[in-house]
Parts: sequence; structure tokens; C-alpha cells
Amino acid sequence: MTRRPGLTGRLVIAQLLVVLAGLLTLAAVAFVIGPPLLRRHLRRAVGTASPQLSRHLEDAFLAAGGIALAIGTAAFLIAAVVTSVLLTRRMARPVRALADAAARLADGDYTARLDAPHLGSEFEALTGAFNTMADALESTERTRRRLLGDVAHELRTPLATIEAYLEGLADGVRTLDAHTLQVLGAQTTRLHRLVEDISLVSRAEEHRLTLARATVPAARLLEAAAAAVRPAYAAKGVDLRVTVAPRTPALEADVDRLVQVLVNLLTNALRHTPADGTVTLAAEPVGAGVMLSVADTGEGIAAEHLPHLFERFYRADPARDRAHGGSGIGLAIARALVHAHGGTITAHSAGPGLGAVFQISLPAANDGPGLQGSNVGG
Ligand SMILES: Nc1ncnc2c1ncn2[C@@H]1O[C@H](COP(=O)(O)OP(=O)(O)OP(=O)(O)O)[C@@H](O)[C@H]1O
Ligand SMILES: [Mg+2]
Repeated sequence: MTRRPGLTGRLVIAQLLVVLAGLLTLAAVAFVIGPPLLRRHLRRAVGTASPQLSRHLEDAFLAAGGIALAIGTAAFLIAAVVTSVLLTRRMARPVRALADAAARLADGDYTARLDAPHLGSEFEALTGAFNTMADALESTERTRRRLLGDVAHELRTPLATIEAYLEGLADGVRTLDAHTLQVLGAQTTRLHRLVEDISLVSRAEEHRLTLARATVPAARLLEAAAAAVRPAYAAKGVDLRVTVAPRTPALEADVDRLVQVLVNLLTNALRHTPADGTVTLAAEPVGAGVMLSVADTGEGIAAEHLPHLFERFYRADPARDRAHGGSGIGLAIARALVHAHGGTITAHSAGPGLGAVFQISLPAANDGPGLQGSNVGG
């Protein structure tokens, strides 16, 4: 393999080409244009000079030109080499730092970052882009690790229960009675739901979810969701109110998926609202779109949890929420499905004890009743 010149070599070659062009021009001036000019001036000044005098003068002129060229060449060459070496040294440092940092990233050290090189806007842009990329990689890696840990954690409890029951059966400590079957069935269902939920979030987040969209009045969505949770609300004694504001436009939505989102929110609200509390499911027009909301008068949510609620497996109170049977994935599913519909979902709470409100903004269907505007994204 032939070795190609490095940065210093290339810079020196480039400068030498400039020097060569300069020298050729100077030589042409000194040896081709200069002598006839000298002769002409001599003739004008002293008339016809003796051949001896003209040769003398011409020799002196050529010698002066030659010496000037020689000294000039030496000075040019030294300056070219010195500036090339200094400049490359200055440029090589950030380039080497970039290569080192990239190698560290490739080795799995996601803390690798570059310092500002102070070498002009191009290097600043390169360093900035590298650091942004490293930030994104670090955050992805953190999420991946946490996710793996969370999945393992969620699988452990049902698997341990199933294992304990099976061992009990094998040892003859337990019999295959209705209770054992119920426990085994419930844990298997829990595992199954977990797998389904994880798969649904992944598909939705990777945009691999096909939505069966149709134009649907907001009221129909709310009624379907309310109907699904009403028995549970009645059993706990929590009041469920449904309100649809006048002129609320229709939605272009996959009904089953949006009902699933609302049921997730209503189930959460019921779980976190004591008996005699109220949960309000509402729809109203906002701009050219629709806002759906689920507001409860329950426990509320502390401010530090609000930004994380929609992350997979995030629970404000892990021990208590898990005891309720939640795996912390319901809101991640809700967000992924709302995003798939081109909408946004947000959580609000004035604090613990003050209830919580979840709001979903969605674009309205183009031909929705009461709608003059066009779709809005989220
Ligand atoms: N209405 C609410 N009031 C108070 N806290 C809430 C409310 N809704 C959600 N949360 C908090 O947000 C967390 C995440 O909710 P999410 O629906 O994602 O998980 P989950 O309900 O615990 O489990 P899953 O929905 O998977 O069964 C809950 O664990 C709870 O701490
Ligand atoms: Mg939930």
C-alpha cells in the first residue's frame, strides 16, 4: 500500500507550488523582461554607451537579480515549511482528539466529549455536532439499560410466583385446586399482558402500527370508553361524568386505539381516586382541533414525577403502584398511540391531594361537524 502524504506534507506541497509560481514569475521579470528594459533606459540616459559599459551594467543587473532570487527562494522555502508545520500541529490536535473520542464511544465509553478547539467556525461546528451525537448516544444507552432492567424486574415477580406454585405441586405441598389454578392463570395473564404492552409501545414508537382510521364523533369515543370502565367505577363508588362541549369537531381516529388510551387514563384515575371522588371525561374544541381530558379529584401527582409519567415502567410510587397491579406502561402506550394519531398528551396536577388532569390534543377530521379550519399537528 502506498503511503499518502499527511496534512503537513500536503500543506508544504501546496505552499511550494505557490513559491514555484512566484519564482518563475520573478525569474521571467529579472532575466527576460529586465535586460531589454535596462538597455532602453541606458540608451535614453547616455545615448550609445560603450559595449564595455553596457556589458558591465547588464552583468551587474543579472547578478543582482540572481542573488535576490536565491535569497528570496530560501526565505520563501523556510517560511512555507515553518508555517505548514505550525498550522498542521495546531489543526492536528483537535483532529486527533476527535479520533480518540470517537474510538472511546465505539468502545462503549459514552462520557467521551470534546473541548472547544478555538480554531474557527468549522472546527466549532464539528465539535458541537460530535458532542450532540455523544449526548444522544449516551441517553439512548441509558434508556436501553434501564429498559432491560425494568423488563427483567417486571418478569421476575410473576415468574417467581409461578415457580413457587409449581414446586409446591411437585413436592405435594399443594394440590391443583381452584385457588392454585386461579393464581397460575392470573400470573400467566400478567406476563402475557406485559409482553403485549411492550410490543404495542415498541410498534407504535417505531411507527409500525397501522391505524384503522375513520371519522368518529368525539361523543361516541367518550361513551365507548366510559362504558368499558363503568362497572369498576360503580364498584368503588367513584362518580364518572362525561361532558362534550357544543361544536366539538369529529376526529379522524382509530376508535379502538383511542378508546384504549381513554380507558388507560380512566383506569389510572379510578386507581388514584378514593371512593366518593369524581372523575370527569370531557371533550371540547381547541383551535382547529379537539381536546379530550380526564380529570380526577384523587391523590394528585407531585411535580417531580410529572415529566416522567409517560416513560415506560415509570411509577410515582413503585411499591404501591405495583401492588395495585400496574406495571407503569399504560401511559407510555397512551402517549405512543396519541402520537401515532398526530396528537399530544400532557399531565397536570397542582400537587399531592389535589387531583390530576390528563389532556389529549388531537387534530380534527377535515369534514368534522362544527369545523371550519384544517388539521392541526401536535
Ligand atoms: N390519575 C392519576 N393520579 C395520580 N397518579 C397517577 C395518575 N395516573 C397515573 N399516575 C401515576 O403515573 C404512573 C404511571 O401510570 P401508568 O398508567 O403508566 O402505569 P400504571 O397505571 O402504574 O401501570 P399500568 O397502566 O401499566 O397498569 C402510575 O404508576 C401513577 O404513579
Ligand atoms: Mg395505568
